[in-house]
Amino acid sequence: AFAKGVFVPPDSIFDVTRRYVGDEFANKVNLGQGTYRDENGKPWVLPSVRMAKDIVLDAGHEYLPIAGLPQFRDAAVRLVFHGTKALAENRVASCQSVSGTGALLLAGLTMKKAGVSVKTVYITDPTWSNHNLLFKDIGYEVKSLPYYKDGKFDFESYVAALEAANEESALVMHACAHNPTGCDPTHDQWKKIAAIVQAKNIFPIFDSAYLGFNSGSVDEDAWAIKYFVEDLGLEACVCMSFAKSMGLYGERTGLTAMVANSADTARTVGSILANSQRATISNPPVYGARIAATVLNTPEIAEQWKKDLVTMSTRILAMRKKLFDELQSLKTPGDWSHIITQSGMFGFMGISPAQISYLETKYHIYMADTSRISIAGLNDGNVKYVAKALDDAVRT
Ligand code: LMR
Repeated sequence: AFAKGVFVPPDSIFDVTRRYVGDEFANKVNLGQGTYRDENGKPWVLPSVRMAKDIVLDAGHEYLPIAGLPQFRDAAVRLVFHGTKALAENRVASCQSVSGTGALLLAGLTMKKAGVSVKTVYITDPTWSNHNLLFKDIGYEVKSLPYYKDGKFDFESYVAALEAANEESALVMHACAHNPTGCDPTHDQWKKIAAIVQAKNIFPIFDSAYLGFNSGSVDEDAWAIKYFVEDLGLEACVCMSFAKSMGLYGERTGLTAMVANSADTARTVGSILANSQRATISNPPVYGARIAATVLNTPEIAEQWKKDLVTMSTRILAMRKKLFDELQSLKTPGDWSHIITQSGMFGFMGISPAQISYLETKYHIYMADTSRISIAGLNDGNVKYVAKALDDAVRT
């Protein structure tokens, strides 16, 4: 039965983690998968999440409704859309998802069933590898728009390619903290992008996995979403994940929100989202949703969460600066200023595959095969070591 099956190589991001875990070198460094680490290189359970866990401890194990935990959905929608006409007018449909990937899956399936006329899904080059895989698997044509050049967002090329995009398309945008480049459009650039999206009637999808994690403020990180939805009044899809912003990686806690142009349409879209959920995973996991709902709906825990976001984003910023300063003091050949101009969890090093594998073999430093590093993997104990190794790799 399987004679025509072709072996699929391991996922490149998860395989970095596998190699890192299997490495017995004491001072190995994991800059691969995007997971936050504290100043000692350890996974960090957010204090706000600890508080919430104490509360949800005995909540039981029954199924959630198909669309997920209502208190979680409402709080997640409010988090992004508070103060908007879309929310006041009941135009936001939502469905809890299996984290960000599940949110994109529901988006892709629902677009089809809800009659959004999309043949081509545009993503960025480079982007998070799952964008291509996921939308192709759902049956869309996937095309890439150039995004990055010389350590920066290549705005001119991106906009030119977007202007030439097919009719009947959707555009996947990273709401903030572009993965893997760490380069986001400025507000003025977002306005230009939005104008093209509006003029060409492209369906906007925001992959919003880093809201609050990027700058420490959800509102600031959701600026582009609000601009599209509130200022321009566009219909749009927002795919959220609480993996990074609450450190709920394994709990798979996310949400798809679809903004429609009327409450009636939102009701229909909500029913299609739930139907897509039932057809794929039936109903979503409960534990993370309970934690996230408790964090967002309990004022003193929500206050603590805001502090936790600042703790994470500030530490990442400090590590960017330290890595940059170390490379400066080593006079490492090349311009490394992009390390401090990029933002979010990732830095894009722009080194070659040979240099990446040299760092892994000689120094036990692990990063994605695109030369993306997770800045959260740096700390005071390893940043000098990483800078010296990079310096050596670049000079070799
Ligand atoms: C990453 O980009 O490293 C994370 O989002 C983990 C993943 O699922 O790829």
